[in-house]
Amino acid sequence: MFCYFTDTKAEWIKGLLAVPFVLHSQPTGVFEKNAHSVEQMAEVAHQRYAEIMQDVENIVDDHIAHQKVGLQGQSKLKLLVPTIGSFFTRLHLADAFRYQDRKRFISSRRFVPPSFNDIRLILNTAQLMGVLEAGPLDLATFDGDVTLYDDGESLEPSNPVTQKIIHLMSHDTKIGIVTAAGYTEAEKYYNRLHGLLDAIKASTILTEAQKHNIMVMGGESNFLFTYDPTSPFLLAHLSRRNWILPSMSTWTQPTITALLDAAESSLRECVTNLSLPATILRKERAVGIIPSVPGYKFARESLEETVLVIQKKLEMSEVGKAIPFCAFNGGNDVFVDIGDKSWGVLVCQNYFGGKGMGPQGGSIKGERTLHVGDQFLSAGSNDFKARNVGTTAWIANPAETVELLSELAELMALKEKRA
Ligand code: IMP
Ligand code: MG
Repeated sequence: MFCYFTDTKAEWIKGLLAVPFVLHSQPTGVFEKNAHSVEQMAEVAHQRYAEIMQDVENIVDDHIAHQKVGLQGQSKLKLLVPTIGSFFTRLHLADAFRYQDRKRFISSRRFVPPSFNDIRLILNTAQLMGVLEAGPLDLATFDGDVTLYDDGESLEPSNPVTQKIIHLMSHDTKIGIVTAAGYTEAEKYYNRLHGLLDAIKASTILTEAQKHNIMVMGGESNFLFTYDPTSPFLLAHLSRRNWILPSMSTWTQPTITALLDAAESSLRECVTNLSLPATILRKERAVGIIPSVPGYKFARESLEETVLVIQKKLEMSEVGKAIPFCAFNGGNDVFVDIGDKSWGVLVCQNYFGGKGMGPQGGSIKGERTLHVGDQFLSAGSNDFKARNVGTTAWIANPAETVELLSELAELMALKEKRA
């Protein structure tokens, strides 16, 4: 079936693991106790799964070797998974599988084969291992809604992610909060992020310099705020001339207005065609729809249809070719933003790099950057774009972000011990 909303690499790996599952799982062990022990089955399944993950790792290494000489279009992986992009680091898939199998007991399951979620988490672990092999993690960027806090909520002081982020900052990793939420006032971001910002200010483990290693990029790539302990909201707005990249200079007001006009008219069309009880929200750098009836939940299909209609219309328009934009399904709204998260992360890489904070004072490299987000399905997902400029980890809820950062801290400690 043709589907816009899928991740081909993870689905491909899931398919490869389905064969040993069918051949080696022992579902009859549930009632034939003496015939098949779970331990024996798990040992065989673990070995087979690990072998396959090692094979995939080798195929990725081969793709990276092709990439290095500009021939990534000719790799075996490209033939097997045509949508595959480029890799910033190696992926330690076999070790990552062993790590996740210890946590999730994938090999011990008799009825449920390795799932998409299992593969997603193995890929995250493999990515963390790859980044740490490439060098220290210079920049970690985080999406807001669903990644740091539940959709539409705020980062409260009790959120365990705060201490994990402070731990990273104490190791000189710079932090960017790269969110679609587009506000022009520091106060609004403080309201969403106060648990983290207050904890950074109060921290006794961070130096003053380390405390300044956090910034907030709002509206995907439109509003930049830096840490300012003297402001009541702990953030200072930085005007665009201080941070825009040379390639963003074509984002002129007439082009932005034309793009938002085109997006707004498509949104209105979808609202009519799908009979959506929606209000159009037009902002300085975005346009979106939100429910007009409090508490109303849009059908997922309506949101996805709206995103795809707008995306296609804008892609085919002159103005859509002139400047980047991001149309996405935010759970219970659809927004079209000017720019996207690849630009947001790129600005963080440049800003910290330009201040002499990147390796050798230059812009922070993609292999030393990790973006953590929840939206990675290929169409209609705003974190997906960050894949162009850095490594990524795909989480499903804020608890998984905490788990991922614990794993990162564990791997960093292991690396320090070995050094
Ligand atoms: P993120 O997950 O942190 O990227 O935030 C996405 C959510 O921010 C969306 O689902 C919207 O509900 C909300 N939002 C608020 N303002 C904007 C905007 O200007 N553009 C896009 N999303 C916005
Ligand atoms: Mg999100």
